[in-house]
Parts: sequence; C-alpha cells; structure tokens
Amino acid sequence: MLTVKNLHAAYDRSEVLHGVSIDVAEGEFVCVIGANTAGKSTLLRCISRLIAKASGEISFQGQDLMALPAHRIPALGIAHVPEGRHIFPAMSVEDNLLSGGYALGRGANLQEPLERIYSLFPRLAQRRTQFAGTLSGGEQQMVALGRALILSPKLLILDEPSHGLAPIVVDELHRKLVEIHREGMSILLVEQNVALTLSVAQRGYVLQSGRIVLEGPAAQLASDDKVREAYLGI
Ligand SMILES: Nc1ncnc2c1ncn2[C@@H]1O[C@H](COP(=O)(O)OP(=O)(O)O)[C@@H](O)[C@H]1O
Ligand SMILES: [Mg+2]
Repeated sequence: MLTVKNLHAAYDRSEVLHGVSIDVAEGEFVCVIGANTAGKSTLLRCISRLIAKASGEISFQGQDLMALPAHRIPALGIAHVPEGRHIFPAMSVEDNLLSGGYALGRGANLQEPLERIYSLFPRLAQRRTQFAGTLSGGEQQMVALGRALILSPKLLILDEPSHGLAPIVVDELHRKLVEIHREGMSILLVEQNVALTLSVAQRGYVLQSGRIVLEGPAAQLASDDKVREAYLGI
C-alpha cells in the first residue's frame, strides 16, 4: 500500500535520513521505533510531502507521492496526526474535528465520520461544544486523532501520540488504535515508547540516526537482545 524506498531527507545542508526503506501492506499495523532525533518525524513529514529536500521513492497505492504537493495527500487517503497534536484550543471539540475535513473540500460528507468518531470516543461526544483547550492531554490527543479520522483515511500515520500522556491514558489510546485497525484501517505509528508500541503493532522497524537498523514482527523485535538493551533497558 505504502512503499518508501531509499529515502534521503535533509534540512539545510545536513542530511538526516540516509536511505530509509519501509513498507506498509494493506490492513497492516506497522510501527517505527527509535530514540529522540532518530528521524521519525522527518520520515512521516516526507510521506505527507511536508519536506522539500527529499529524494528517493514514495508510493501509495501505485501513486508517486514525490510528484505531488502536500495539499494533495489527504484526499488520497493518508491522514497524519502530527507530533504535539496542534489542536485549536479556542475552538469547540466539534469544530476541531470538522476542521480536519477541510482538505476534502466543500460538499464532503463529514456527518457519518463524525458520528463514527463520537461512538469511538464517547467522551468527545459529551464535550462536543466545549473549547478543546479545556480538555485533558489525553482528550486533546483523541481530538487530534479524531481530526485525522474525519477524512476516513485508508492509512493513518501517527507521530508519537503517547508523548506526555500518563501510562493509563496511553493504554486507552492504544486500545482505540487496535480497534480502528481491526475495522480495516492501515496504521503507521511512530513512537519512542518502544515496549508499549511493540505490544500493539504487528510489525516494526528500528530507526537509528536516520537508518533502519532492524525490522521484523513486533514480537520478534520485543525479544531482540539489541532492542532490549538499547530501548528497554534490559
Ligand atoms: N525543522 C528542522 N530544521 C533543522 N533540523 C531539523 C528540523 N527538524 C528536525 N531536525 C533535525 O533532524 C533530525 C531528526 O529529527 P526528527 O525527525 O524530528 O527526529 P525524531 O522525530 O525521531 O525525534 C534531528 O537531528 C533534528 O535536530
Ligand atoms: Mg519526532
């Protein structure tokens, strides 16, 4: 479904991705794990075409993404939940959710996906008229996720959604991702939180200083000595 081949990306003159290749099959739940500054966000920004200085191949369902501008990506069926959420604090929960549908243009039917989001996150339904800035961190992450889901994407990409959340909230978030995946959505999840991420994804890649150094089924990575030593402190 998504294929990234030999991707190089740079800011100014310094290259931060040095030939990254990953793929996500239809219906798969894939993760990329790696420490801070490994290049995880850069990889996702390349897929969403938010980075100008990139070379290599990125294709999605046979379409060459490298040839497209960023604003064309959501309508293809790729929704990106950015690092740090970036919700609108002085807008209601519902307006935040609907704002995600902007990329589809006028006339898009957002009512069905909106109802679907409210059934997935009943707490957002209860707070639909409340300013998003008054929600807890976990609820704000649900809004950021809902804003991506309003596009009814085929592929959901998430940049460290668990960052800054309490463990119990991370658990809840991950359960929602598993539920969304079970209903047929493909997911590419990027996280520093290695142990938890490997417990929900099916397959994973380890990104280290801009290079993929390991890949395999999530259970295999979780029991890999190098992963345990470097990321799990075992
Ligand atoms: N906007 C930017 N301008 C310059 N350098 C950047 C920018 N964003 C990230 N970098 C650098 O690129 C490298 C990879 O960053 P990033 O992709 O954010 O890693 P991660 O998401 O894994 O923490 C880091 O060394 C970071 O300092
Ligand atoms: Mg990042």
